Amino acid sequence: MLPFQTLDTLDVSNRRVLLRADLNVPLKGGKITDASRIEEVVPTIQELLKKASGVIVVSHLGRPDGKVVPEMSLKPVVDALAAQLGSVKVRFAPDWSDGTPETAAAALGKGEVLVLENIRYLPGEEKNDPALAQRLAGLADLYVDDAFSCAHRAHASIEAVARLMPAAAGRLMEKELAALTEALDHPKRPVTAIVGGNKISTKLSLLENLMTKVDTLAIAGAMANTFLLAEGGRVGKSLVEADMLDTARRVRASAQDRGCHILLPTDVVVAAKFAADQPTKIVAADAVPDDMMALDIGPKSVAAMIALIRNSHTVLWNGPLGAFETKPFNGGTNAVAAAVAAQTEAGMLLSVAGGGDTMSALVGAHVRERFSYVSLAGGAFLEWLEGVELPGVAVLRKP
Ligand code: 3PG
Repeated sequence: MLPFQTLDTLDVSNRRVLLRADLNVPLKGGKITDASRIEEVVPTIQELLKKASGVIVVSHLGRPDGKVVPEMSLKPVVDALAAQLGSVKVRFAPDWSDGTPETAAAALGKGEVLVLENIRYLPGEEKNDPALAQRLAGLADLYVDDAFSCAHRAHASIEAVARLMPAAAGRLMEKELAALTEALDHPKRPVTAIVGGNKISTKLSLLENLMTKVDTLAIAGAMANTFLLAEGGRVGKSLVEADMLDTARRVRASAQDRGCHILLPTDVVVAAKFAADQPTKIVAADAVPDDMMALDIGPKSVAAMIALIRNSHTVLWNGPLGAFETKPFNGGTNAVAAAVAAQTEAGMLLSVAGGGDTMSALVGAHVRERFSYVSLAGGAFLEWLEGVELPGVAVLRKP
């Protein structure tokens, strides 16, 4: 049982629900380029509509900094949500002027949805302003939070409001919490964390926390270059963080003290420059020629990671293993992702991935649906892996 309030512990019958969703979807020229976040909140809305006397959805879009920025209006998102909800009446409160959301909320009928305009148009949102939280709480009887991807923000529609009314996690938030708790707090061992990406500096807390939880940390991406350089390896023109060499040595030493094995690439795919379809070579990871740069892990490293995965019962994945957006440097990420997916499908592995570029890398590898869980969260997923108590999750804990 999760230690959080959920829709199983909150009776929404004939009550009006304020639902915090993360409808912060990418838009290009007013068109939504990835509707995943809208699609994923639909089951919670549908479940609420069966019993509740109306659902009021609050979300942000982009970072308008407390001002009205017309390009960051939620209007296009409301249309997409309405299309997803079929025959359900979806209304929109188009501004935050005095009385607009209140009048729209008062007119809301049973079985209907009201979406409020971008909450970050209001300066009080990011300040976790109690007066704004009061205003939001005044619109409904209960609060449901389905925005795990915003749970690292102590904002009025996430934290302060949840203290003012009975609050619970929606189904999407519940799924995220269940997957992350299972993978990190009581995992089936051996547990492997695959950490990729460019910089140790942005993932230091994550590495330090994970090494206390997992059996093996498999490190790849450009951040592995910094570890290899710190050990005296030659990394040529590869991306490194020259000021993080001591830190890299310290991370390795403390992992060793804690009995956490660190797996680094032993071979890499190199090219003279970072551009599509370059001539490439495979070289030892610690012997990259001076005029070359490492852009992906090599076949021996891929084989070692696959062997590790086959020997693991839980895998946590954050960050791509190479410069995956540019072919052929997506090969390592794709091969390892396919192995994780296959082991998951064979019932041998719980696989949980998320954060920043990870989703795009796994979508590119065609494995998103084949992992146990791929989180739509970026910053919140990273902070969870860092061991931080997220304010938006803390307020949902059972008393
Ligand atoms: C996200 O896209 O990660 C969430 O919507 C949070 O957005 P933010 O980083 O602007 O708070």
